[in-house]
Amino acid sequence: MIKTLKADSSTLSVFMQACRLEKSRHTPIWLMRQAGRYMPAYQEIRAKHSFLELCKNTDLATHVTVSTVEQLGVDAGIIFADILLILEPLGAGLSFVKGDGPAIAKPIRTPRDIDALPEPHVEDSLAYVYETVRQSRKALKPEIALIGFAGAPFTLASYLIEGGPSKSFYLTKKFMYTEPEAWHKLMDKLALASIVYLKAQIEAGADAVQLFDSWVGCLGTDDYKTFVLPHSQKVFAAIRNLAPTIHFGVGAGSLLSLMKTAGGNIIGLDWRVDLDTEWRRLGFEVGVQGNMDPIILLSDRAQINLRAKRILEQAKARPGHIFNLGHGILPNTPVDNVRFLVDEVHRLSTH
Ligand code: CP3
Repeated sequence: MIKTLKADSSTLSVFMQACRLEKSRHTPIWLMRQAGRYMPAYQEIRAKHSFLELCKNTDLATHVTVSTVEQLGVDAGIIFADILLILEPLGAGLSFVKGDGPAIAKPIRTPRDIDALPEPHVEDSLAYVYETVRQSRKALKPEIALIGFAGAPFTLASYLIEGGPSKSFYLTKKFMYTEPEAWHKLMDKLALASIVYLKAQIEAGADAVQLFDSWVGCLGTDDYKTFVLPHSQKVFAAIRNLAPTIHFGVGAGSLLSLMKTAGGNIIGLDWRVDLDTEWRRLGFEVGVQGNMDPIILLSDRAQINLRAKRILEQAKARPGHIFNLGHGILPNTPVDNVRFLVDEVHRLSTH
């Protein structure tokens, strides 16, 4: 049984209708990284608190989640947290360095490092995330869906092994190719922790969950099948009856049908693929989310209008399209352009 909002509100949430592949009064829209540095209100809060402090202060994290929805007029909120928080109880030494992004003080480089990983006890160590979910669900209007999320095992493993962001993922791939047994052990550990983490978010009130496999596009299809698919599949299989799921990757055009096999009611598409063609290829038994280039939001209203129209035309008002960007909002995006996009998608798709 897929969980819905309270009996009377499930029919009101256009986002949940799309997750269930039902027709809705307009196409739902939310935006990855909708809460963040491009917003002056967020910058003001960040001036007083570090990013990790903000994630752990459930009142503030709830405020950021909910005020973002109110400011933008989107159809769903995403809890204010990060995919990398789960690495903290694994003893990775997580920090966020201004300008450089995330940093892992104790990266994994040998099979022995994997055996030495502690039990993360995510039921307790990430209790603040579940509390943010609880508070946000309470504060949001019933027709606004609340999205919980986790990093997919591959993307989490890539941060643990690289120790931070990477372009080539050379340490990750080298480890995967030379230490396959240890690799599968690590992926299994991450998958099991993510299952507990996502179940607890759903239990706390998340209406749907997204699995972010942001960096999986660096792999070929055979490697995805061997080294990633079984682990992501395990995560989706464990939660499929609890809430609708979204499966997202970047630059993953050639992996989309395999990602569908791994799981997800909705498959994320980025701007590199043609929404209509890819949806046909995937089959209409899954929904799709996407797929505007985030840089369009740095252009002007005429361009935003044109591109939104084009994406909606490609989706052909089929049930199961969730409008989004192909990746997160960029830091120097004008808030007005984001609000304009949200209004345009609602206006153009109302029928
Ligand atoms: O509205 C939201 O989406 C807020 C919740 C959210 C954040 N991160 C907050 C955040 C979500 C869903 C994420 C996911 C996330 N985090 C991903 C997957 C999505 C993607 O972009 O591919 C990844 C890869 C991360 C890891 C991460 N966290 C990076 C690379 C960085 C630094 C660079 C950047 O883009 O900001 C972060 C920090 C981070 N996570 C910030 C926010 C608001 C900025 C922190 C700050 O205030 O300085």
